[in-house]
Amino acid sequence: MAKKLTVVDFFAGAGGFSEGFKQAGFDVIYATDNWSPAIETFKLNNPDTETVKADILSLEASDIPKADVVIGGPPCTEFSGSKRGGGGDFKKGLILVSRYLYFIDSLKPRWWIMENVPRLLQAMPQRFKYKDIGVDKEGYLEIPKKQVFNSADYGAPQKRLRLFSGRYPSLIQTHSESSMMSLTGNRYHRWVSMRHVIESYPDPLKGPSEGSVVIDPNYGIKVKETELLDHFGDYFVMSKEEAERNRKQKTQHPYYGKMKFPDDLDRPSRTVMATQFNASRETMVIESKKGNEMIYRKPTIREAASLQCYPINYKFVGSNPTTKYKLVGNSVPAKLSFAVAKAILEEAGIKSPQTAMISTA
Ligand SMILES: C[S@@+](CC[C@H](N)C(=O)[O-])C[C@H]1O[C@@H](n2cnc3c(N)ncnc32)[C@H](O)[C@@H]1O
Repeated sequence: MAKKLTVVDFFAGAGGFSEGFKQAGFDVIYATDNWSPAIETFKLNNPDTETVKADILSLEASDIPKADVVIGGPPCTEFSGSKRGGGGDFKKGLILVSRYLYFIDSLKPRWWIMENVPRLLQAMPQRFKYKDIGVDKEGYLEIPKKQVFNSADYGAPQKRLRLFSGRYPSLIQTHSESSMMSLTGNRYHRWVSMRHVIESYPDPLKGPSEGSVVIDPNYGIKVKETELLDHFGDYFVMSKEEAERNRKQKTQHPYYGKMKFPDDLDRPSRTVMATQFNASRETMVIESKKGNEMIYRKPTIREAASLQCYPINYKFVGSNPTTKYKLVGNSVPAKLSFAVAKAILEEAGIKSPQTAMISTA
């Protein structure tokens, strides 16, 4: 059997970025993060990976194994448009970016990717002085490629824009707004809608039915309703007042444009956020029925996890919904990381799987 290509994941979070590589057949040999729920979640779902809880600023290159691919998504808080209206501290955000680049220079992987919000383009210099990333030599670390991708174009049921900086081959787009022929003669599938995810799941307010099965909207894995995690309850229901405030934010904002309220289920979802505010313009709002009453709600943790392309049996470790939403909302959608992983396999001359290889255990 051909040797598997290996991956090291910095800022590994719950493991979304790694998940796509795993689905493409890579061996994720090492993952690190400084947040306990992230490390525990990663470990639970990837028992064969060496998983280390540490601040990246305290790690040294000699602590990390060499790998074919290094991936990492430094926190985007300081670069994201939602931070104090876009007024984040770029200098602070770049400390962790620089440390990641220090590891890229030390480990010298054949391929590497740094994932972040597109706004990092405004904060990041064209090239980094070696001295500024902690490398004791003259000259600059060049970033060979920077490109923004929409995860919906790679089969995710979510329109999430993410910047990939690094050294990686071109990705092959598989989906588009309407099913059509690409310039290269490939047929694109139509974007996957949010409805496809929401309607794959039973009513979260009703509780599980004995004997019924749920089919994973992304991968077709079957799970008994009674074994479905992070879906049932009422933590996602908005009060009438919250829903009304949200409606106003979206439809009557004094200077931002009008937005749909509730969300349009026939398109990929808006970006899944790490913090689920009730009255923000970024909040996803789903219209549902509770008995005879119409209510508004956010996605359940499980629905949000499917929008992020986690398999239905992926487990999140956290003592409350806020922690689990954060683990999910921080992630790279696995369908997007699968696309880059597949492109790497092809460049390496290794046959790549047509569809994701998922563990159903
Ligand atoms: C955007 S999330 C990464 C998500 C991950 N790539 C995924 O796809 O699931 C950023 C992660 O960086 C971690 N982090 C923040 N500061 C850190 C530090 N100083 N050292 C190590 N990890 C850190 C956070 O705990 C968080 O899990």
